[in-house]
Amino acid sequence: MFQEFAFDHLYINGEWVLPFDGETRPSIDPATGKPWNDAIAFGGPGDIDRAVDAARQAFEGPWGRLPGHERAAILRKFADLYATQADALARLETQDNGRALRETRADIGLHSQYYHWFASLADKLSGRTIPIDDSVHAFTTREPVGVVGLITPWNVPLMSAAWKLGPALAAGCTVVIKPAEHTPASTLALGKLFEEAGFPPGVINIVPGDGPSAGAHLVAHPGVDKVTFTGEGATAKTILKTGADTLKRFTFELGGKSPHIIFADADIDQAVNAATNSAWTLCGQSCALGSRVLVERPIYARVLEAFQQKAKRVRVGPPLQPETHMGPQAHSQQLDKTLSYIDIGRAEGAELLTGGARIKSGPLASGYFVEPTVFADVRPDMRIAQEEIFGPVASIIPFQGEDEAVQIANGTPYGLTAGLWSNDVGRAHRVSSRIKAGIVWVNTYRFIRWSTPYGGFKASGWGRENGIEALDPYLDTKTTVISKTGKFPDAYEA
Ligand code: NAI
Ligand code: MG
Repeated sequence: MFQEFAFDHLYINGEWVLPFDGETRPSIDPATGKPWNDAIAFGGPGDIDRAVDAARQAFEGPWGRLPGHERAAILRKFADLYATQADALARLETQDNGRALRETRADIGLHSQYYHWFASLADKLSGRTIPIDDSVHAFTTREPVGVVGLITPWNVPLMSAAWKLGPALAAGCTVVIKPAEHTPASTLALGKLFEEAGFPPGVINIVPGDGPSAGAHLVAHPGVDKVTFTGEGATAKTILKTGADTLKRFTFELGGKSPHIIFADADIDQAVNAATNSAWTLCGQSCALGSRVLVERPIYARVLEAFQQKAKRVRVGPPLQPETHMGPQAHSQQLDKTLSYIDIGRAEGAELLTGGARIKSGPLASGYFVEPTVFADVRPDMRIAQEEIFGPVASIIPFQGEDEAVQIANGTPYGLTAGLWSNDVGRAHRVSSRIKAGIVWVNTYRFIRWSTPYGGFKASGWGRENGIEALDPYLDTKTTVISKTGKFPDAYEA
């Protein structure tokens, strides 16, 4: 479906149009460091204006008037089409961001179910009746907030799109989606599926572009009612300031430095399977990863040894090859960031147990490949234990007992996800209830689905994605109070 696809066009108001005040740019394949496509559309502020106008018209017009079950029907058709194209979309995304195809396929293979789940909610946006007394009938209705700007990152472009588009469309909003600079291709391709599914023009508009220009313009635009953003905390702060003048509503899914705690009473082999995978999957480029591995002292040496052994088994290679476990970093800035943190870890005195270098020889040399890396004897206050690296770097921290585990786990500004391994059910409850994180996994990790709310405590974000809660940010509640008597006392009776 995407063989002849014209990536140099934007998708605005149901049409494929050339950037109006933007340009086209090559998109780099991070596995080779060379362009895989020479001309991908990049919109500028003028294109954002066109897209917002189209979204506004669609919201005030056909989409806004469509009953929920009819929105659901279109969304379901889209979900079915998505399933037929999941493999093609996965290849496209892997080409753009270098995530190993085996992972991209597994991820994108689930997206259709996300859209089905949100479709199933589109006609269930009911309010409440509120008992007060016999004089009035009070009730609430839920209305879509309006035009929403979706700003997505490069690590999981289509997953992030699904988590935002699903609830936005189910709620009855219209959208302008701006994918990240490095990875616009898979999101642009979605336009084909929107067309074929029969969404009215303007309901979904796709405008790749630079964050500080197109992205900032979308945030500042008075025609946009809400922005939902996934990315870096520093960007969220800029976005907040940009959106202040129009008092935008925001949902933020920001970073993490998630603790993955292994108690000595755990099933160590299973815990190590999870902890190694959760440090290196996506080449370390996910906010949910267990980048801090907290290991109880009695099993510390054993876990270090297991990490070393597993690192040897990770097949780093060309991401489109099915046997590859781990591809490159998604772009050169991220490569530089990861390598700089590896230098920081060394300078801070952590022990580099394995990895720690870019792959500089052989067929991978021109790509942005980094070895799976493990630091041991990491102190909780080190920068490699506090800051998001977004590379395949595990920081292993020893601890003793529940109190210390909880103290270290909660000892960063973040609070997105956490994992703990223990065969003591009481401990599992005690520790998970004390951890400040939006989701805690016990004896598993990164189990994420359409129906499980996901989002951050503390600096990891505002609002939730997935689950029924995901609809809330896209809806306003209206309270209506109707008098049963129509009588109103005269306050100024003579
Ligand atoms: P970023 O936050 O700058 O980019 C994310 C999105 O925001 C992109 O679409 C970008 O174009 C847009 N953007 C950037 N500046 C903007 C602005 N002023 N106004 C509106 N939109 C803007 O993240 P970046 O620089 O690509 O990555 C830096 C670090 O952020 C990573 O190393 C990682 O630590 C973290 N990150 C976290 C993600 C998560 O899943 N929570 C995803 C991506 C990055
Ligand atoms: Mg940035």
